[in-house]
Amino acid sequence: MSKILISGGNGFLGSYLCEKALSNNFEVTVVDNLSTSKERQVPKEVKFVKKPIEKFSTNERFDFVVHLAARPSPEDYIKNPLATIDSNDIGTRNMLEIARKSNGVFMYTSTSEVYGDPKILPIPETYFGYVNPNGIRSCYDESKRFSEALIKAYERQYGLDVRIQRPFNVYGPRIREDGFYGRVIPRFIDQALRNEPLTVHGDGKQTRSFLYQSDWVAATWKLLMNGKAKGEVLNIGNYKEISVLELAKLIIKKTGSKSKIVHLPPREEDPKRRAADITQARKILNWEPKVSLDEGLESTINWLKEKKNL
Ligand SMILES: NC(=O)c1ccc[n+]([C@@H]2O[C@H](COP(=O)([O-])OP(=O)(O)OC[C@H]3O[C@@H](n4cnc5c(N)ncnc54)[C@H](O)[C@@H]3O)[C@@H](O)[C@H]2O)c1
Repeated sequence: MSKILISGGNGFLGSYLCEKALSNNFEVTVVDNLSTSKERQVPKEVKFVKKPIEKFSTNERFDFVVHLAARPSPEDYIKNPLATIDSNDIGTRNMLEIARKSNGVFMYTSTSEVYGDPKILPIPETYFGYVNPNGIRSCYDESKRFSEALIKAYERQYGLDVRIQRPFNVYGPRIREDGFYGRVIPRFIDQALRNEPLTVHGDGKQTRSFLYQSDWVAATWKLLMNGKAKGEVLNIGNYKEISVLELAKLIIKKTGSKSKIVHLPPREEDPKRRAADITQARKILNWEPKVSLDEGLESTINWLKEKKNL
């Protein structure tokens, strides 16, 4: 039986990865401090260690070591800059050490934020990014960039089998919608279902590209299992762009909400455009997104309605 260790495995994406690994008869261990996820949401078969990844060590060996633990929501990480950095410096180092001692495969979820405010669209992996090294978002984007450097150093120095993905705005059921954890899709759906104004930062002309969770799981599993992915850094996202304003209007329409749209001051250093060039993922993983934004929103809206008894 193969063994997989997943840091941050109780989160939105991690919970789906746990299920995927269990369905492939893996023994799954999760280390999670429940900082950005609330209650345990992984199946009972999962061995669960409630701990910050920075404080975790083990002599157990794993075939796969997956480092997801992070604080990915901008309003949350801006409030917790040091904890955000720690999961990407000490946390990444700890997970790399476990992978090295295990001689296992190491996989990291970096982020499209490593590109900062990109000057080319759609963004290929070869673009080095346009990032402020000490700006308000640097605790997240620069620490993810540092993690990538650390991971590549382990590959160069120890020959470790490493794989890095850069996800672009993944959404779906289980993503947190409450408080400042809520990323744009769950926040808009939550506001729409309560007939409250949808809060758009700036003029709303900034674009994003969204990927549904099942497409992310499919790509991630291929990235882990496919030998051709060894050493690769791959965008995992959508090439289709939508403006935040259009997204707000679409969600109002799909929920049949009476909500209006209100504009808040623009977020500091908010990237103006985002769209993934997935040529490499197509070629190496034979993967591309299958779920349309329409279908993905439908299922996320239904999930949130059910959760809120609406
Ligand atoms: N969802 C996306 O759109 C997206 C986009 C780009 C990158 N990512 C990356 O994917 C990974 C998973 O994101 P997610 O959307 O599932 O977020 P999430 O907040 O739902 O999950 C993160 C999990 O990590 C845990 N965690 C945070 N800091 C920790 C620490 N120091 N020690 C142990 N556990 C810790 C949290 O409690 C949570 O369960 C993150 O690394 C994130 O940066 C996600």
